[in-house]
Amino acid sequence: MNVEYSSIGVVHSPFHQRAGTPIQPSRAKGARGEVEVFQEYADGLNDLEGFSHIILLCHLHHSTDYRLKVVPFLDTELRGLFATRAPNRPNPIGLSVVDLVSVDGNIVKIRNMDFLDGTPVLDIKPYVGEFDSRTEVRFGWLEAARARTNVADDRFK
Ligand SMILES: C[S@@+](CC[C@H](N)C(=O)[O-])C[C@H]1O[C@@H](n2cnc3c(N)ncnc32)[C@H](O)[C@@H]1O
Repeated sequence: MNVEYSSIGVVHSPFHQRAGTPIQPSRAKGARGEVEVFQEYADGLNDLEGFSHIILLCHLHHSTDYRLKVVPFLDTELRGLFATRAPNRPNPIGLSVVDLVSVDGNIVKIRNMDFLDGTPVLDIKPYVGEFDSRTEVRFGWLEAARARTNVADDRFK
């Protein structure tokens, strides 16, 4: 099935190239940016400001050809793509939980982000601990991963 979505907004970010951009919000060291939600969707931001974090679903528009086995940023071995958060994917959707700073009209200010400037936004959802957080978890290959990098290199061109 082919699925077609239209973006609801765009990310404004201090990051302009993939290499050097944080690999996840948890490693973004407070990087600030904003989501400009297109006016036609702005009413949908009502009541969002009460949440401390939001889930951003974005189209990783600079992603290129994917491979089904990749060496993730935090490892040195090939791993199955779907066991990683690598940006080059059959459907290059990025999912990030970011800090919500403020909502002013159609502008959502955020902190701790890992998206490039100009990234199209597909959806915004509130992060809810009860729904989205688990206590008994396993982290697969990441439990043994030694790499400690905070930012991307150019392995995913
Ligand atoms: C490892 S991905 C993780 C994205 C998201 N947090 C996730 O887990 O789905 C983050 C990296 O994707 C790359 N990236 C960010 N925005 C992008 C975009 N619009 N197009 C292509 N690559 C992007 C950057 O190199 C960044 O370091």
